[in-house]
Amino acid sequence: MNTKTTVIPQQALQQQLDLCAQIHSLWHSRGTPPLAYVETYGCQQNEADSERIRGLLCECGYAMTDSAEGADVVVMNTCAIREHAEQRVFGNLGALTHTKRRHQGQKIFLCGCMAGQAHVSDRIKNSYHHVDGVFSTHHLWQFPEILYRVLTTGKRVFYVEDEAGSIAEGLPQLRDNTLKAWVSIMYGCNNFCTYCIVPYVRGRERSRKPEDILKECENLIRSGCKEITLLGQNVNSYGKDLNSSIDFADLLQRIAQIPGDFLIRFMTSHPRDASRKLFDTMAANPKIAKQLHLPFQSGSSRVLKAMNRHYDRETYLEKVRYAKSVMPDLVLTSDVIVGFPGETEEEFEETLSLISQVRYDALFTFIFSPRKGTPAAAMEDPTPKEEKNRRFDQLCALQNTISEQIHSAYVGKTLRCLADGQDKDMLTARTEGGRLVRFAGSEDLIGKYLSLTITGSTTWSLTGQLEEKD
Ligand code: SAH
Ligand code: SF4
Ligand code: F3S
Repeated sequence: MNTKTTVIPQQALQQQLDLCAQIHSLWHSRGTPPLAYVETYGCQQNEADSERIRGLLCECGYAMTDSAEGADVVVMNTCAIREHAEQRVFGNLGALTHTKRRHQGQKIFLCGCMAGQAHVSDRIKNSYHHVDGVFSTHHLWQFPEILYRVLTTGKRVFYVEDEAGSIAEGLPQLRDNTLKAWVSIMYGCNNFCTYCIVPYVRGRERSRKPEDILKECENLIRSGCKEITLLGQNVNSYGKDLNSSIDFADLLQRIAQIPGDFLIRFMTSHPRDASRKLFDTMAANPKIAKQLHLPFQSGSSRVLKAMNRHYDRETYLEKVRYAKSVMPDLVLTSDVIVGFPGETEEEFEETLSLISQVRYDALFTFIFSPRKGTPAAAMEDPTPKEEKNRRFDQLCALQNTISEQIHSAYVGKTLRCLADGQDKDMLTARTEGGRLVRFAGSEDLIGKYLSLTITGSTTWSLTGQLEEKD
């Protein structure tokens, strides 16, 4: 693997944009714009990447459509985190043989984290002949070149070489939402948690320069964006690879100083690197949402060690205690894995007791899924599937009770929320902590901060009533 971090030179990016212009002219004679469909699986990093893919497609003259049916280009931006995610992609990819048969000339691409695994690109090469191009996350910036080659030669193109990764600044982006934006502050991961595929498919940690991030945030806020979510696999190690002393808390502080009415969120925080300085910075800045996603993965120190997480139960709990002491209204969420190889009943119970102690607002719960090439996939795993399912159900039941209790305590409170969309005949809004509130109101309220009095709650969301405009 090439381990040198590279910033893609502007000249190389310009060549890609020039190719966009050439693709644009290929379609010119057709009269109507060609259609592109981008389907996204996985996490916010992939959502952010899809916005760049759509941005590049727009430069090439494509208009976006919301189905593969009739699209001239279909891009599947995939996730490799669990087997189930991969199976879904293979299933949906198979179904594209039909859309391609009905629309001669449809070009199909697969990219994202699955494309970074050699066994996946080999399988596509050998068994999915209707797929025209495959490129890993490292090659996203070369999508115009890949598309151009496919369109002009009709040959299949594979850009899947293993690389440490690079940073491409200034790629066009077609954002899904004008109110809320994802901003990647870093790419890749160095942690190699023993169960996780991400470091293998997204390469080494590399931070964007603070000036580039600040410029992007300023532009977003100037154009009316109200919520910025900073993205990275481990935002707390931001800056470690830069030639500067800036850390994540400093970056947050600098973004919070941009004038305007907006909120900053971020994910994900690795507990090892979550510092008191970070929590103090959050507490001191009204523009930083009091919301923390702090994945603990397991409540057992033995399992955490086997996962290579570099913290134990006690240090995790101590960080949570401190964070809650400086931010009493903190909304805390987390990820947890049930059934890691060798997890005993007692160790599982330690996970339950940690959940009862911390009382998360919400949890993302997963059953361990062996990922080819990771150390945990080779560990002995004597626990039967049925037992893992039982543990999983027990854990979900506990968390649902806690979420329900926490949500019901909102009833009667009046909170400042951002109205952010519509759901059937109701409007939706988010509290500062990121909780979903449904309320009755007119469409023109979308994009405004409002005072909502909470009138009801469920395990997953709240209902509210409009008090007054802020
Ligand atoms: N970088 C983030 C997590 C990204 S993946 C962090 O370190 O917190 C999101 C979540 O998927 C992880 O937190 C973990 O709970 C889960 N996950 C990752 N690999 C998994 C696997 N092999 N099996 C089951 N869950 C997994
Ligand atoms: Fe995966 Fe661990 Fe990196 Fe998160 S920190 S992406 S779980 S290796
Ligand atoms: Fe999936 Fe890749 Fe994200 S594996 S969870 S899309 S970083």
